[in-house]
Amino acid sequence: MSLVERATPADREAIERLVTACITAEGGRPKAERVSWAVEQVLKNRFPGALFVAREKSAVVGVVLAVYTPSAELGRLLVVNDFFVDPAWRRKGVGRAMAVRLLAEAKAMHVDRIDLEVLPRNAEAAAFWKAVGFTTAGRMIYSKDIA
Ligand SMILES: CC(C)(COP(=O)(O)OP(=O)(O)OC[C@H]1O[C@@H](n2cnc3c(N)ncnc32)[C@H](O)[C@@H]1OP(=O)(O)O)[C@@H](O)C(=O)NCCC(=O)NCCS
Repeated sequence: MSLVERATPADREAIERLVTACITAEGGRPKAERVSWAVEQVLKNRFPGALFVAREKSAVVGVVLAVYTPSAELGRLLVVNDFFVDPAWRRKGVGRAMAVRLLAEAKAMHVDRIDLEVLPRNAEAAAFWKAVGFTTAGRMIYSKDIA
């Protein structure tokens, strides 16, 4: 099973490379400045959150970036903004190991709920989150791109 642990500044380059490759593999257009900014916010504790990496030997094969958000209605939310496994390492339990680590973090931080978004076309991610015990709760996401 992969070792999942809190990322350190030494992991930054590997994290950014993996996130960029995963976004490209999913058909997206990664923005280097955005990837670097988001990783830095959590890594340097500029924004309260959790950044974990999954390692196989010394290689970073998975990354999860989540942030703490207060909600008057729902309490302490942990919002998962990025969750990727290296395509070469999928279906080997890496994602599950990261989800287990995320749940342990949430419990330790007295989080009330973990939230995340999955695109309707991303059947793999939907199957994954269902397999690790998450449900949609019938909610809809409304968004507006500003930048
Ligand atoms: C979704 C993702 C994180 C899963 O990671 P993973 O390491 O392959 O997942 P695991 O091997 O731990 O799978 C755990 C279980 O999830 C389910 N699952 C995972 N991938 C699946 C797929 N492609 N199809 C169907 N079920 C799947 C299975 O039940 C699996 O258990 P099994 O292998 O014993 O059948 C990975 O495919 C990924 O990085 N996708 C691209 C990025 C993404 O979509 N992120 C999520 C958006 S928030």
